[in-house]
Amino acid sequence: MTAMTDSPRPAAAVPPNASNPHFGDPDWWRHAVVYQVYPRSFADADNDGTGDVRGITEKLPYLAELGVDAVWVSPWYPSPLLDGGYDVADYCDISPTFGTLADADAFIARAHELGIRVIIDLVPNHSSWEHPWFQAALAAAPGSPERERYIFSDGRGEDGELPPNNWASMFGGRAWTRTTNPDGTPGQWYLHLFDASQPDWNWANPEIAAMFDDVLRFWFDRGIDGFRVDVADSMAKEPGLPDHTVNPATGLGSNGKEVGAPHWDHPDLPPIHRRWRAVADEYADSELGGRIFVAEAYIDPIERLVEYVRPDRLHTTFNFDALLSEWSAASQRAVIAKTIPAHESVGAPATWVLGNHDNVRVATRYGKPVTGVDFSAPGEAAAGDPLELGAELHGMPTDLELGRRRARAAALLELALPGGAYIYQGEELGLDEVEDLPESLLQDPTWERSGHRIRGRDGCRVPLPWSGGVAPFGFGTDAAPWLPQPARWASLTAEKQDGDPASMLTLYRSALRLRRERGDFRGGDFAFHGLDGGDVLAFTRGSQTLVVVNFGSTPIELPAGEVLLSSVDLVEGRLPSDATVWLAV
Ligand code: NOJ
Repeated sequence: MTAMTDSPRPAAAVPPNASNPHFGDPDWWRHAVVYQVYPRSFADADNDGTGDVRGITEKLPYLAELGVDAVWVSPWYPSPLLDGGYDVADYCDISPTFGTLADADAFIARAHELGIRVIIDLVPNHSSWEHPWFQAALAAAPGSPERERYIFSDGRGEDGELPPNNWASMFGGRAWTRTTNPDGTPGQWYLHLFDASQPDWNWANPEIAAMFDDVLRFWFDRGIDGFRVDVADSMAKEPGLPDHTVNPATGLGSNGKEVGAPHWDHPDLPPIHRRWRAVADEYADSELGGRIFVAEAYIDPIERLVEYVRPDRLHTTFNFDALLSEWSAASQRAVIAKTIPAHESVGAPATWVLGNHDNVRVATRYGKPVTGVDFSAPGEAAAGDPLELGAELHGMPTDLELGRRRARAAALLELALPGGAYIYQGEELGLDEVEDLPESLLQDPTWERSGHRIRGRDGCRVPLPWSGGVAPFGFGTDAAPWLPQPARWASLTAEKQDGDPASMLTLYRSALRLRRERGDFRGGDFAFHGLDGGDVLAFTRGSQTLVVVNFGSTPIELPAGEVLLSSVDLVEGRLPSDATVWLAV
């Protein structure tokens, strides 16, 4: 059985077009600016306090005006939402909370009309425990075909009372939960690298690979342009499920992804990616063109990561070093200097990311005394752990004015670099992290699983403020949003920022327009400029565009040139601190 629905598969339609001149370019994904929608928190058309697919469709003109090339929608599938939808109960339907398949079809069609590509989330490492196959597995006997779809194992110890190995959940605690037999006696254990509500699929079972082929085709046939692949480094596990190196802090297995780790970046992983690539390539001649994948993988060093984007595997991967880097010229330069050649070596475009639904919002992070990882430090190559970094930052004070100023500079840095770029919803409004959500409202499973040590990621998932002076700020009509919005967001609504020349929204719109229009940004040409060094990061794009970022505390002289865009006003022709300028030279 697959979790398929009976609804028809409409043929992909030629999009009528398109305010986006690059929409039809088969290589659109090499340069795309992708906007991430977290559906629960984007726009609430049915006014029940939770965002929905119709809400996204209604806001598509806003995204077209913003100037993005694609929208990536985080999971919209039926789900108990115990991990915000990354716990999928049916891969081929839409959650009733978010709408219907007809709503999804209408969304895809409207996005294409507006010149916007559609990427959705694929969650292949695990399902929800509400998935019918997991329920069938629980009801079936050890060794049955139903159990073979997930990773069940007898426990160790005399009565199987000890978990099968020492693996740890990414959210805290053990990666194993013991089942109860129908007669009430303790049964086998099942593996979950994340929450207990997210049992891991058994990718060693060909039935699982075949089921996911069907899932890919189901959505490609509905006209989606690609998938963002959740934990793209985790599906394959070492046969025999051996213990991992012990993490002395927890006494459990480490979650480190070093070469040889039994459940990360395993040698059996590439064939899974290649299989998906072959399915995507079946669509190369379709009217919409080839379909693409973007990998979510916190893997280091970068030489390992770019293996994921070799021509026969996935197309692109998130650049989490860029996201996790501290705000300093040395660290940002180090990330750029390793990212570009590493991607060139495999013929894949780099990507640039400032935030997502798992990380502290950039305006807040850059206003902290610690702003991230220093990638220029000797031997520093760690891909980082967003949950641990979030916990570390949470206790620190925030200078939000400074953070927003740097976030503006970072946006112009990110959007000037070669390759693709990601914007997490609300970044274009300069939204900050909501750090003071009441503990009683926290929903991230990390909060419970870490024994209340790590508050988790809810603070970057608060519903967007669209308009008006009081909550829900046009998110819905009047229903209380599923997480409360802070009163201070009255000054950050899209309505308020629209047309304000000094707003973050205007900055993003201007940057995206220039990026789309200016040939220098579209080519791959990148070179560090003579100005680069110390606290100044400077590079050229093509022959006529110079980008300068001042990380230092004193204003710097600029070479002659026309200012195309600047994150703050220049002072007597000089670039002040924590600012970026784009110059035509
Ligand atoms: C990565 C997703 O971005 C995150 O939100 C989720 O909790 C884990 N994968 C598990 O699916």
